[in-house]
Amino acid sequence: MSSLLDTRCLILCLFFLLATYTFHYICHQIHQRQVSRAKGCKDAQSKAPVKDRFIGFDFIYDCLFTKPIDKYLDYTYKTFRQLGPTYVCQRWTWEATYTCDSRNIKHILASGFDDFKLPRLRVNAMMGLLGSGIFTLNGHLWSHARAVLRPCFAKQNKDDMVNMLETHFQALLRRIPLDGATVDLQPLFFWLTMDFATNFLMGHSTHVLDRASSHAKEKQFVDDYLTCSTEIVRKMQLGPLQMFSFNFAAMKARSRVFQYIDEFISASLDKEREHDEAANSGLNVLQGLAALTTDRKQLRDQILHILVASRDTTACLLSNLFFVLSRKPHIYEKLRYEVVSIAGTKPATSNQLNSMEYLKWCVQESLRLHPVIPTNAREASKDTILPHGGGKDGNSPLLVKKGNLVMYNIYAMHRDAGVFGPDPEAFVPERWDGLRPGWGYLPFNGGPRICIGQKFALLETHYLVSRMVQTFETIKANEDTEWIELYALATTCKDGVNVSLKR
Ligand code: HEM
Repeated sequence: MSSLLDTRCLILCLFFLLATYTFHYICHQIHQRQVSRAKGCKDAQSKAPVKDRFIGFDFIYDCLFTKPIDKYLDYTYKTFRQLGPTYVCQRWTWEATYTCDSRNIKHILASGFDDFKLPRLRVNAMMGLLGSGIFTLNGHLWSHARAVLRPCFAKQNKDDMVNMLETHFQALLRRIPLDGATVDLQPLFFWLTMDFATNFLMGHSTHVLDRASSHAKEKQFVDDYLTCSTEIVRKMQLGPLQMFSFNFAAMKARSRVFQYIDEFISASLDKEREHDEAANSGLNVLQGLAALTTDRKQLRDQILHILVASRDTTACLLSNLFFVLSRKPHIYEKLRYEVVSIAGTKPATSNQLNSMEYLKWCVQESLRLHPVIPTNAREASKDTILPHGGGKDGNSPLLVKKGNLVMYNIYAMHRDAGVFGPDPEAFVPERWDGLRPGWGYLPFNGGPRICIGQKFALLETHYLVSRMVQTFETIKANEDTEWIELYALATTCKDGVNVSLKR
């Protein structure tokens, strides 16, 4: 009798669950239709071919077994040329929209900002290793974090920063052979930006460029940081399967990274308590933050997130730019002529850097041709639309269902001849003379989540490039390979920057 009752109860529960699910499903469908009708949406005609539309085995198979394509970015660019600037693709149980249309990207990042959030997969991959900071936050937690961070950047004094950069540049010079022997500049740029970023963020440099063995703890930190960032990239590549992966070495590295940063947090909080005036001089971001909050976890997470945001991106930009300069002697010569005419052989001031037009064009052109964040994504936080991509001509609005991803491609957008003029795949700094691409050019993102460190990154890059060209009369690549991306947290050159430099 009791087992019959149990079975009936179970059936009733299952029926109730099924009815609730069906009810929600129908409500959801009705809501999507209402949104679609109200905004005049039409189905996307452009669809990427998939073999399995129902379960999405293509996607799971790709995540697990397909080797990353060497020239993935060129592949995506060609796909847009075949399928148009916006197309959809069935990915497992959901649909992803791919776009390089600047009008759609402007909508995701600015006019429709509230309808989109950071993708769950990115948030989970980063949060597990770096904690919860500006790169993983959405909504009011994000706006609070941004409001706290902004004044810490505004406080930075440009000439103090330039002086700090000079110390690290001198350490870089000591690593470059004087006899013209080949050197790979890429790892040197990564070390330099790590030394500088830890210096301005925490007031204590890792000194990895310094050959002295007395910095063993710092070197361990840099190795651990690399382990964590490699694991984040691996998790992102695994997509939804990331929840099944566990990397013990990365977890150990994470706890050492936390420990390392915690020491500086304790020191900053102590200084803050003592009202040390130097603590508020504005050069050290951690001290600026410690004046606003004493929550150690929050301090650590924010510092780690800014380290990721600032270090890899700037190193990639320097590497990509010098990769091209070492293959274009006439551009290098023109750049050197400008820098030396304005600043001579002495380190340039921030005002002098500001007047170096050709230097700025070279950096802009590098970020156009090889953007260091070439692709990005947002997740729809409600049923919403993209203004273009629907209908036969792609000019009608397109429905984006709640939870679906929009992948936007800056690499392809930056190759629009209609915006950038002829030969968009060539490195031509002169194209920037009078060019105002607006939303067609987004190396630093746009809208409310625009890069907080943009001015900072440009000052750092302009200074270091000016010092390199002042110091070296020529730079020559030792092989004539083409630029192929190395796709990580930020994008750099797969084969390094192997060059010989002459003073
Ligand atoms: C060449 C150098 C750089 C490039 C190309 C770059 C690019 C970007 C991009 C594309 C984003 C948007 C990411 C997204 O929302 O998905 C971003 C965000 C951010 N960047 Fe940068 N960045 C650079 C350097 C820096 C530096 C030097 C700092 C700090 C000193 C910095 C701090 C940040 C922060 C804190 C965010 C998050 C902003 C937010 O979500 O509100 N970046 N950056």
